[in-house]
Amino acid sequence: MTLSVVHMDVLDAIKNRRSVRKYSAEAVPEDALMRVLEAGRIAPSANNLQPWHFVVVRDPGTRKKLTGGKYAKFLEECPVVIAGCGDTKKSPEWHVVDVTIALQNMVTQATAEGLGTCWIGSFDEKEVKDALGVPDDFSVVAMLTLGHSKEKARGERRTKAIDEITSRDRFAKG
Ligand SMILES: Cc1cc2nc3c(=O)[nH]c(=O)nc-3n(C[C@H](O)[C@H](O)[C@H](O)COP(=O)(O)O)c2cc1C
Repeated sequence: MTLSVVHMDVLDAIKNRRSVRKYSAEAVPEDALMRVLEAGRIAPSANNLQPWHFVVVRDPGTRKKLTGGKYAKFLEECPVVIAGCGDTKKSPEWHVVDVTIALQNMVTQATAEGLGTCWIGSFDEKEVKDALGVPDDFSVVAMLTLGHSKEKARGERRTKAIDEITSRDRFAKG
């Protein structure tokens, strides 16, 4: 396999991803889930501290406890939720970035597996920590939903052009 083919595969997965908020009841196969978690496990982290822990939530009763946020109601119907937790003691400065990178690796792998995902930032941290038994020295950075999409294909969303968001050698905007 040539390098360019590998690059295309990744870019396709990144391009094909859209936030999925409607899920079928179909279970997520364990092998696909393991590859999604593996993509997170091997993510880069500052000083290779890997200051993360991921709680995979399948239990419907526990999932319901995660739906307190205004934009998180659909977690009740989604077969898998992954809560990304960061070790605030181990890496006070970078745990948020590190957990975020790992979660986004999982999103990309899930897309390649044909699974839908959605980032969830709409939650009360204390509520989620209580529901999942997250210890005091960990924060809940974000959650992901994971499952088979039941959404109809959507049109493209507006995204900024490369020219709008990049400059060369020196920051130059507008
Ligand atoms: C950090 C973060 C938090 C988000 N939180 C939520 C959320 O709580 N509920 C939700 O429905 N979507 C949430 N989203 C999804 C965004 O609304 C979505 O990514 C954005 O509108 C772009 O659409 P797309 O993902 O389909 O490309 C979140 C996305 C990010 C990156």
